[in-house]
Parts: sequence; C-alpha cells; structure tokens
Amino acid sequence: MDFKLTEEHEMIRQAARDFAINELKPGVIERDEKQEFPKEQVKKMGELGFMGMMASPEYGGGGMDTVSYVLAMEELSKIDASASVVVSVNNSLVCWGLDTYGTEAQKEKYLSKLTTGEKIGAFCLSEPEAGSDATSQKTTAIDKGDHYILNGTKNWITNGSSAEIYLVIAHTDKQKKHRGINAFIVERGMEGFEVGPKEQKMGIRGSDTHSLTFNDVKVPKENRIGEDGFGFKFAMKTLAGGRIGIAAQALGIAAGAYELAKEYSKIRKAFGTEIKNHQAIAFKLADMHTSIEAARHMVMKAAWDKDNGNNYDLSGAMAKLYASQVAMDVTIEAVQVHGGNGYVKEYHVERMMRDAKITQIYEGTSEIQKIVISRSILAD
Ligand code: CAA
Repeated sequence: MDFKLTEEHEMIRQAARDFAINELKPGVIERDEKQEFPKEQVKKMGELGFMGMMASPEYGGGGMDTVSYVLAMEELSKIDASASVVVSVNNSLVCWGLDTYGTEAQKEKYLSKLTTGEKIGAFCLSEPEAGSDATSQKTTAIDKGDHYILNGTKNWITNGSSAEIYLVIAHTDKQKKHRGINAFIVERGMEGFEVGPKEQKMGIRGSDTHSLTFNDVKVPKENRIGEDGFGFKFAMKTLAGGRIGIAAQALGIAAGAYELAKEYSKIRKAFGTEIKNHQAIAFKLADMHTSIEAARHMVMKAAWDKDNGNNYDLSGAMAKLYASQVAMDVTIEAVQVHGGNGYVKEYHVERMMRDAKITQIYEGTSEIQKIVISRSILAD
C-alpha cells in the first residue's frame, strides 16, 4: 500500500493552495456578508483548469483523476467553501454527467463550454417535495415527438442564477415511477424558463442558490441524456461521484478551521503562556487533527475507488457522512479555541462553522448517506 502522492498530485494541490490564498482569501469575508458570487474568481479558475478537471481533454477538460480533484477541492475549501461548491457542482455533477453519458453532439455543444468555465452548470433534481425522495419528482416533461414540454419547479439549486447550462431531472411517465424519469439539458434563455429569487442562506453565502420554474419550456429531444427512462440512474450515478467532491469540501472546511485554530493557539496568551500550552486546548487540537486525518483517508479511498473502476457508492457515502460530521465538530471547536475572537467575522472560523452545516445536507443528507451505507452493507 502506497500513501504517497505523485509529483503531479503535489503540483495540483500546490496550485489550488496558491490560488485559494492569493485569489480567494482576499474578499472572502465581504462576499459572505454581501452574498456575492465570486464571479471573477470562478472565471480565473476556469482559465486555470479547475472547472473541468476530470473531463476529457478533447472537450477542454483536464483528463485528471478523482484524487487530483479532491486534492484541489480540499485546498479551495480550506479558504472559501462558497467558491468550492461552484467547482464541485460544475465538475462532478455537470461535467462528469455529460462526459460519461452525453452524446458527441451534447459534449461538443455544452461540455466544451463548461470545462473552460466559459459557462457554468447547475444540477436540478430537488423540488419543494422531492429533495431526499428523488423519485417523487413533480416536474414533468411531455414527449411531443421531436421535443419535450417541460413544466415544474426546482428548489435550492446551486449556481441557480450564475449557470447557463442546467441538467434538469423530470418525470416523462409517472406510471413507470423511477423508470419513467429522464434528464435534460436546458439552456438559460429558453422561453418559459425563469430563475426565482436568491435564497438567504446561513452558510456558503457567496454561492447563489435559487428556485427555478419551467412553464411550457420546449426542450429539443436531442437534449435528453441517455436512453428513455435513464434519468433516475443518471442522477444516482452522478450524485454518487458528487458526494466524493462534497466529502472533500467538508474535509477542506475542517482542515482550514483547524489550521487557523492551531496558529491562533501559538500566539494567544492566557494565564501567562500561549494557550497551546494548556491541555484544554492541546487536547482539542489533537482530536481535531486525528479526525481530519481519518476523514482524509476516507475521502482518498473513495476517490481511489472511483479512479480504479471499483464501486464507490459505499465508500463515497461513508466519506461524505464522516467528513461532514468532522467539518461540523472541528469548526465548532475552532470557534471555541478562538474564544470571543472566534465569534467575530475577521477570524474566519465563524463563517466556516456556518459553511460546514451544508455538507450534512446537500447531495444527500447524512440520513440519506446512512440509507445508502446500510443498504450496501446489508445487501449480501
Ligand atoms: N447507481 C446506479 N443505480 C442506482 C444507484 C446508484 N448509485 N442508486 C440507485 N440506483 C438504481 C437502483 O438500482 C434502482 O434501479 P432498478 O429498479 O432498475 O434496479 C433504482 O435506481 C431505484 O433505486 P432505489 O429503489 O434504491 O431508489 P429509492 O427511491 O429507494 O432512493 C435514495 C434511493 C438513495 C434514497 C435516493 O433517492 C437518493 O439518493 N436520494 C437523495 C437525493 C439527493 O442526493 N438529493 C440532493 C439533491 S442534489 C444537490 O444537492 C445538488 C446541489 O445543488 C449541490
């Protein structure tokens, strides 16, 4: 067993770390406060190849492995989880989904714009009554021969207003339950497609989350992804990989907060010495470090499974379940180590604590991960 990263992996990690420190850190507090999308930063990440890391090079992608992607996700998330979720959705849900299951024409037309960051993508599954229970889609797409007519509402859509290419999941035949679901590529600007107001969120406030409505939107048949009825499996397969990216995001939030707490413990004095010299603080740091290291191993194992053609439903779900809990626990402790300073914005950890919570909710709540895990371990 070899735990060593390759030179290329190290370079990718360093590039992401440099970008996060130099380009994301300045302004991260203000963007959180104003709920401002990191537009310029996302554009630069596109130019640097972070928006389509794993996608095929012939469509402008980086052709990299999942390990490279999670290394970058961890580094970006240490500094700015709002920016990293844009990267995550674009890479693992939209680019991966199109690259793996799209037609040549779809890849030519859409994927090549997404990998370079020229356009941003969104993944539209959740509805007011179908977040976790993904088969209960109310959005419908009625087959009209050469096109479908799409009607319905999607909720909590990351990149809701900044995206231009949307992968939308809808029922085409309710009688067939999950086998009557399809996925469609919908373009911003198609008639009848409207973006609702921005959600006022607790965390990842720099990312834009919106509801979307479709009123008789005419979607060409060539925009359906895969065979008729493939939409539910498409969503499940795509989300299984997406969960590895969110696990890496959770890991990054935890690691970023831990690093800040550790540094703070070396400069803040109480009772005549730096607080790192008090076991009350040193033991907290020991626990944080240990749980982060365990989460990192789980994230890497899931990425390795994906890269090696193994089933990653179980390892990805376990990585997300565990890393998101670590993100929550560690950020709470990081605030505690900072004392009163932890509660104010300029020290960053209060934002990280708010950001951590979403990793237990999106791309499947922790409870959904437990469903996936328990079904998998009890299957034989
Ligand atoms: N890969 C391939 N196929 C899969 C699969 C997978 N990982 N998981 C399920 N399937 C298939 C099954 O084999 C089955 O197919 P057949 O009937 O042909 O055998 C079919 O899908 C139905 O499977 P289930 O009976 O297991 O489906 P279920 O209704 O019980 O649901 C679930 C299972 C795991 C709970 C699923 O509904 C789920 O993952 N829900 C959570 C959805 C989710 O993550 N929502 C978050 C929204 S996206 C988001 O957050 C994006 C963002 O903006 C950041």
